[in-house]
Amino acid sequence: MNKSSRVLLLTSILMSLIWLSGCELGINSTQSIQAVFIDSLMSQMTFEEKLGQLNLLVWDGSLQTGSVKNTGVSEKVEKGLVGGLFNIETKEERKNIQQLAVEKSRLGIPLLFGQDVIHGHKTVFPIPLGLSCSWDMELIQLTAKAAAIEASADGIDWVFSPMVDISRDPRWGRVAEGAGEDPYLGSLIAQAMVNGYQGNSLNHPESVMACVKHFALYGAAEAGRDYNSVDMSEIKMHQVYLPPYKAAVDAGVESVMTAFNDVNGIPATGNKKLFNDLLRDKWGFNGFVVTDYTAINEMGNHGLGNLSTTSTLAMDAGIDMDMVGEGFLNTLKNSVEKGTLLASQVDQACRRILEAKYSLGLFDDPFIRLKEERRHSLSEGKIMDLAYHAALQSCVLLKNDQQVLPFKTSQKIAIVGPLADSKEDILGTWVLNGDLDKTLTVLEALRNRTEVFYSKGAEITNNVSMAKLINYQFDPKNSKQLQKEAIDVASKSDVIIAVLGENAQMNGEAASLADINIQESQQNLLKELYKIGKPIVLVLINGRPLTLEWESKHCSAILECWSGGTQGGKAIADILFGDYNPSGKLTMSFPRSVGQIPLYYNYKTTGRPFIEQVKYTSRYLDVPNTPLFPFGYGLSYTTFEYGDITLNSEEIYDNDTLVAYVEIKNTGMYEGVETSQLYIRDMVATVTRPIKELKGFKKVKLRPGESKVIEFRLTVDDLKFCNADLEWVYEPGDFMLEIGTNSQNTKQKSFRLMD
Ligand code: NOJ
Repeated sequence: MNKSSRVLLLTSILMSLIWLSGCELGINSTQSIQAVFIDSLMSQMTFEEKLGQLNLLVWDGSLQTGSVKNTGVSEKVEKGLVGGLFNIETKEERKNIQQLAVEKSRLGIPLLFGQDVIHGHKTVFPIPLGLSCSWDMELIQLTAKAAAIEASADGIDWVFSPMVDISRDPRWGRVAEGAGEDPYLGSLIAQAMVNGYQGNSLNHPESVMACVKHFALYGAAEAGRDYNSVDMSEIKMHQVYLPPYKAAVDAGVESVMTAFNDVNGIPATGNKKLFNDLLRDKWGFNGFVVTDYTAINEMGNHGLGNLSTTSTLAMDAGIDMDMVGEGFLNTLKNSVEKGTLLASQVDQACRRILEAKYSLGLFDDPFIRLKEERRHSLSEGKIMDLAYHAALQSCVLLKNDQQVLPFKTSQKIAIVGPLADSKEDILGTWVLNGDLDKTLTVLEALRNRTEVFYSKGAEITNNVSMAKLINYQFDPKNSKQLQKEAIDVASKSDVIIAVLGENAQMNGEAASLADINIQESQQNLLKELYKIGKPIVLVLINGRPLTLEWESKHCSAILECWSGGTQGGKAIADILFGDYNPSGKLTMSFPRSVGQIPLYYNYKTTGRPFIEQVKYTSRYLDVPNTPLFPFGYGLSYTTFEYGDITLNSEEIYDNDTLVAYVEIKNTGMYEGVETSQLYIRDMVATVTRPIKELKGFKKVKLRPGESKVIEFRLTVDDLKFCNADLEWVYEPGDFMLEIGTNSQNTKQKSFRLMD
């Protein structure tokens, strides 16, 4: 179909709309106009073209991360057999292929362009796990908005974010992409990100459609091994793992991605209970569902049958779009002919995709996000500034003995480590379009401030098979040489900064680790440096909690910086020199030993709770039960002191608001920001309840010597939990309220919810 016949077609649709709105039908809402438009369009579509809308492909040359390779993409676009494309490298390519869809396909239906924009687009923000440590919803929403602005200016309509999978297992590499272990915080972050991406209206050129993922429970993969099975009680599912997805739906997310794993025996991608029953019927989700990469095909490996069977299963479960696998395109016609699927199910899915395209403004203007030039509502400078603040706020100070930090200007500084001067690794996982030229490494940022001695010192890893999988190139110098050079520079200085951790390939998708120690190659370097007897400041660039027993005993200071993004290097340098006082707090517990995993702060008490020195209690013989650094933990260059909690009442009724007050004082020498956390424990209930659950937090900035009283307000909604019938209820009785600087160090006060 050429351009003029497409225009004719759209004009005829428009005419019928005008005619309809003139009739007694009373069509005046945007929604009705959209429905008529889509009805009219669908009435002209062949069954194959409808299936085409459900087909999401990757560009021929793109990185292939699943079992299927898409070929002949342009030809399929021309035939109307593609609904969308993702992870295309350039705007130019997007524009050309949109031209093809609009001008060459019979009905000229525009394509939807998706992309893994996970923590920024050109300007890269800290990895989501890092950003979550800011506990700053406004900041997080702004980073999503900035990512939307940059991505949409590049022709992207749809981002595969936020990933809201709760995880209690740092072996799973994808913890880097999420917001940690807590459902309350995870829900707020999910909401903030959806709002940031989608803005007030999807058809605004600067808005992009969000896609919450991976529904469901992907973060609970057994043994932390990516893609692995999930088997979980329904109470746990509803109480801990599902709330952030629900929060995204409540915030109006327009699309949902399935998970690779099975859930209690049924692969998520073919799981009717999850999609039709829970997501759509119970939660009222109206958008569309896309599979993860070849997830329908992979149901074959799960043992659910051939592609025809699994495609039908997926459609039946409520899935609308098939990512890469082309099972819908190639098998559903036959299933309808055989009678195993209804044509109306395909219609429904097609309608949902067209609705999304309509909402995104693509029918008004297929090039709405593909204009040559666009003025951004946030300038480039503002976005860079945001990246800087995001990086500052993501850093968590884990240790600072004898105030070794911040540095004094007169000190001679050595900086060593394989991550000190790597732009790619400070950007982190899932960076497809990051601007390397604008990225500063820690070394570069330090050199902009002062003179430092530098040496790489070690390989990222000495594990040859891992190196192959993560495409790591070994240094031409051998380990001994690297180490010797580092010792030489360290010996000339007063203090040593060791920048260690993980490169960008060691976390994210398909990057599970059975051992979460710092790699031996880097540990060896650290141990040699320790022998010199100078204070060591360990700067960590990584994407998951690590086991840091040795490091926590032998390093003077530890600053967890994650992969901090474009401005990560500068933020680290500025924190080290005290321009910014670190304020981040962990959102995942750091275990002492990998054997403690899964380890999380909101665990349940057992019938034999831990008692020091008592054998027959729930414990390990060899390590304490507690984490090395708990959820909510993070130091500052200053110190804060908490007063006792006072309550407006120690007995409340179900219409009351409980108000808790606590005074916080800055007792140190620096101005600082404290994130004060409120936890609740339900002392007696009809089901077993966690030892504590986060229910609120407040950030407060205090000058040295200053104190402020902060207040938290709670209602019975905050006391609700999922009972044995999977209902959200509160039960009268005793509660413990805790407020403190982290999940372990709190003040406590009890109250009672009266009958
Ligand atoms: C697989 C990943 O699980 C998912 O998060 C990502 O969005 C898709 N691939 C597309 O790249």
